[in-house]
Amino acid sequence: MTTEEKRQAYERVSAQADSLLGDQSHATLKQMLLTAVLCEQLPYYFWAGFYCMHRGELLLGAYVGSLPCLNIPLSKGVCGRAARLRQTQIVADVHADPEHIACDSRSNSEIVVPFFDKDGRLLGVFDADSTDFDAFDHTDRQYLEALLHMHFAEKQLECWNYEL
Ligand code: SME
Repeated sequence: MTTEEKRQAYERVSAQADSLLGDQSHATLKQMLLTAVLCEQLPYYFWAGFYCMHRGELLLGAYVGSLPCLNIPLSKGVCGRAARLRQTQIVADVHADPEHIACDSRSNSEIVVPFFDKDGRLLGVFDADSTDFDAFDHTDRQYLEALLHMHFAEKQLECWNYEL
C-alpha cells in the first residue's frame, strides 16, 4: 500500500468514525466501531483491538481477530512498553523484539498506540498486528494518535467500566 493509498484509507476511516462515533459515549461500543472500521479499510490489519488500564494493568477491550491474551502487566509486551513510556511503538519485525508477546504466530509486525483522557491519564492502548513485516509507519502513527485523541480524550465516556 503506497503512502497516498494509506492516507486515503485513513481519511475514509476518519470520516466514518466521525459519523459513527461522534455522538456516541458508550466506551466499548466506540472501541468496537473504530476497530471494525479500521480493519475494513486497511487490508494489512490482521488483528486490532484495545487494551484498557484496569487496576494497574492492561485488560482486553473490544477487538477483531483471533483470541488474544486477556490481560498484560505494564512490565510485559509491546503493549506494556507503550503504556509505560506513554509513546507509540512501531515494531517492524515482532520476532526481533524480545518484549513482544505472541498471541498469534502469524503476526509479523505491530503498532501500539497509547491513548489518554483530557487530563493526560493513560486510558489504555490500541494494538494492531499485521502478517506483513514492516507494515506500519509514521502515517499509521499520525492517524491513529489523532483518531484516539478525537474519540476518547475529549468525550466524557459513560460505561468506562475500568478502574484506572
Ligand atoms: N503483541 C502484544 C500482545 C497483544 S496480542 O498481540 C493481541 C504485545 O506484545 O504486547
